[in-house]
Amino acid sequence: MKRKRSVEDLDAQAKRVLVRVDFNVPLDGDRITDDTRIRAAVPTIRALQERGAKVILVSHLGRPDGKVVQELRLAPVAARLGELLDAPVATCPDVVGPEAQRAVEQLPAGGVLLLENVRFHAEEEQNDPAFAKQLASLADVYVNDAFGTAHRAHASTEGVAHHLPSAAGLLMQKEIDIMGRALLRPDRPFVAIVGGKKVSDKIGVLNNLIQRADRILMGGAMANTFLKAHALDIGKSYFEEDAIDVASSLIKEARAAGKVFLLPRDATVATAIDPNALHHVVPVTEVPPAQMIVDIGPETIAQYKQQLSDAKTVIWNGPMGVTEIEAFATGTRKIARALGKVQGTTIVGGGDSVAALEQAGLAGQITHVSTGGGASLEFLEGRDLPGIAALEDA
Ligand code: 3PG
Repeated sequence: MKRKRSVEDLDAQAKRVLVRVDFNVPLDGDRITDDTRIRAAVPTIRALQERGAKVILVSHLGRPDGKVVQELRLAPVAARLGELLDAPVATCPDVVGPEAQRAVEQLPAGGVLLLENVRFHAEEEQNDPAFAKQLASLADVYVNDAFGTAHRAHASTEGVAHHLPSAAGLLMQKEIDIMGRALLRPDRPFVAIVGGKKVSDKIGVLNNLIQRADRILMGGAMANTFLKAHALDIGKSYFEEDAIDVASSLIKEARAAGKVFLLPRDATVATAIDPNALHHVVPVTEVPPAQMIVDIGPETIAQYKQQLSDAKTVIWNGPMGVTEIEAFATGTRKIARALGKVQGTTIVGGGDSVAALEQAGLAGQITHVSTGGGASLEFLEGRDLPGIAALEDA
């Protein structure tokens, strides 16, 4: 991947700068339950404010499908951002048009304006060229700091970059640099931990990581499909019938490439996915017919910790068990703790593993917690993300 021009090298002095941010944060009514993505955008905003730029922020929130949805207005986000910046954040009832133009004109040097949810316009997701041009007309330069949305070729993430001088924001740059380096020039041993529910969601990631990592450690319900590919009887455990063949080929591919590819040896099994369900630990060869795998077991945890003990690069995506239920979250929590002790670069991506890390209070011990869900998956697959590709090269 070519290096992209950084916001630091962009002439933004006293300019109107349109900044695409990813403020797609979880909400409970109008309460933001996790403001990580808002915090992550602050360094770029501050850097532009210090240069006397007018900072015009544009983001989506949720999936309003081209219609105005009251619950998805960005007002709570503007309020939280104002607290974080300790400065007022202006808002505007629209994204383009006369009201947006006026809001930009009224913005003082170093001021911050948050436009309304860009997905209230259907043209956004259609990457409509006229809409992209209208957005571009609000500014002199464009900065994309929305790594979390970089896998979408939308008007505010891709189209607009064709109309203005462009650069990557500091968050975007950090995500690309750390994950790009881990994939292309990792310090070794390089260990990948892959969990979550579905193999089918992660075939691309596994293919790429099998080529690049030295050891791949599997967990979560997706490991069940691999156990099934070994013809093990896994009782009532979730698995993907359609992905068994692909799982077999991935195992062969890893073996042929001489990689360590580990599946759980033991597991916590339960009668149901229920906090009150009876559960106990068994070897994966002895899963009772009426029970299901809900977490990796202690022997597996010890083995994975051993594999992590001398790692110099670790990428982790996806939980090891059903983390919504405390009794089945042990494997994920213990792996998170082991990750915190690794003397090397540690990278965690994907909403569920990040949430597990935060719950355990361990996020601060990780080199990089990606703000991307789908975007970090596609990045780890080795794909070009349209929101990055459209930016000017350095
Ligand atoms: C995300 O939360 O993964 C991004 O903000 C992208 O959102 P989307 O999946 O609705 O495009």
